[in-house]
Amino acid sequence: MNGPLVIAIDGPSAAGKGTLARRLAAHFQLPHLDTGLLYRAVGLKAEKSGRPAGEIAISLQLSDLADPDLRTDRAGQAASKVAALPEIRANLLKFQKKFASQTSGAVLDGRDIGTVICPDAPVKLFVTASSDARAERRYQELRALGLDTIKPRVLAEMAERDRRDSERAAAPLRAAPDAFLLDTSDMDADAAFAAALAFIERKGFRSSGP
Ligand code: DC
Repeated sequence: MNGPLVIAIDGPSAAGKGTLARRLAAHFQLPHLDTGLLYRAVGLKAEKSGRPAGEIAISLQLSDLADPDLRTDRAGQAASKVAALPEIRANLLKFQKKFASQTSGAVLDGRDIGTVICPDAPVKLFVTASSDARAERRYQELRALGLDTIKPRVLAEMAERDRRDSERAAAPLRAAPDAFLLDTSDMDADAAFAAALAFIERKGFRSSGP
């Protein structure tokens, strides 16, 4: 008998983990936490208010995650900087662990879910794609939002963020040894979902929905 289904999804930005996380959460009727939003909220609030990021991280509320500005690249860069600070990571740990331990199970996506937040999750996915494929996706997303940018700039900002997220000492971006590696460079969202679902079903988990 399997315990609760906890799906831990990690990977670099624009690899497709957010879309995959939402689709898996809907399929298995599980609550979903996009943990990048926590770091984005802390980074952006600290930048806007000038208050210490550690203090903001301790008192973060779910309502702080609804700010539409959190989706901007400014927030992504601010997030990546505060995410390198061990104090910030420690202050956000409890919130994430609590979310993951709901009796229903849960889906969490981020950079250290399978390695630090939920090392015992029964399902771990590491979602990657080539830098070119990720930059192209991010570029199209920004254009769809009506934001003016150029591809080389998107690529450069992404490379800077990848480097910071992977080279930091505190919980760097890494695949857990038992993670299922999913390279989505040549996959659309449907194909990525089908591959992830097949892996999860092989582990004995099935949707209880209609
Ligand atoms: O997934 P995202 O782009 O929203 O994440 C924003 C930044 O937050 C990312 O550059 C690194 C950091 N982050 C992290 O360090 N750990 C997580 N679990 C999630 C995000």
